[in-house]
Amino acid sequence: MRLRVAIGADHGGFELKQELIRRLGQNVEIVDKGAYAYDAHDDYPDTVILVGRAVAGGEVDRGVLICGSGVGACVAANKIAGVRASVCHDTYSAHQGVEHDDLNVLCLGARVVGVEVATELAVAFLMARFSGEERHLRRLEKVKSLETAQEGQPGPEQTAESHGDSEAEAALEEDDKEEEEEAEEEEEKEDEEDEEDEDEEDDVEEEDAVEDEAEEEDDEEAEGKEDDAR
Ligand code: RB5
Repeated sequence: MRLRVAIGADHGGFELKQELIRRLGQNVEIVDKGAYAYDAHDDYPDTVILVGRAVAGGEVDRGVLICGSGVGACVAANKIAGVRASVCHDTYSAHQGVEHDDLNVLCLGARVVGVEVATELAVAFLMARFSGEERHLRRLEKVKSLETAQEGQPGPEQTAESHGDSEAEAALEEDDKEEEEEAEEEEEKEDEEDEEDEDEEDDVEEEDAVEDEAEEEDDEEAEGKEDDAR
């Protein structure tokens, strides 16, 4: 089944939206939530609500929102429960946001990126899938709990760590361990590279010393010959 994508923009993103619809429409099912005509006085929250609700309510799989900077649309979209929106103006964030954070709305700034970059960002975002890995699921649950958190209630950090939730604590430790191991591996690799560089430097120094010695011998020999000639 083709991916269903709701798209929306204010006047700041109107032209880019039209072009993205033309480009992406060949590969995904696009649901255009407006604006349907350029209106210099329209307000981005009006289309954000339509795209956000379509995503949160399951009418579509993903959303793309475009305004001038992408910021206003992003701020507004994240007020809608079930929406995880972000401005991504680099392709790494556009796919990693989905893989790790289950990003479901991509926000773009038409005054920041051109149509080619915007197309690549949208493709990276739409092709990516949430990894479903345990640590990402755990974090996602904590993010979701923020939507229902009440003032004065313990936040996700407290529920996991300071409330003696041993399973969550163990998972956090496991996670820290993974990250530490990765850092150690990186350090070892760097040390190895440094050692290789040092060995190379030693070799060069040795070669220089041998050359110096040979030169000195030549000089002495030449001096000897000069003395002989005097
Ligand atoms: C409209 O001028 C502009 O403020 C809007 O498109 C967006 O950039 C807001 O973040």
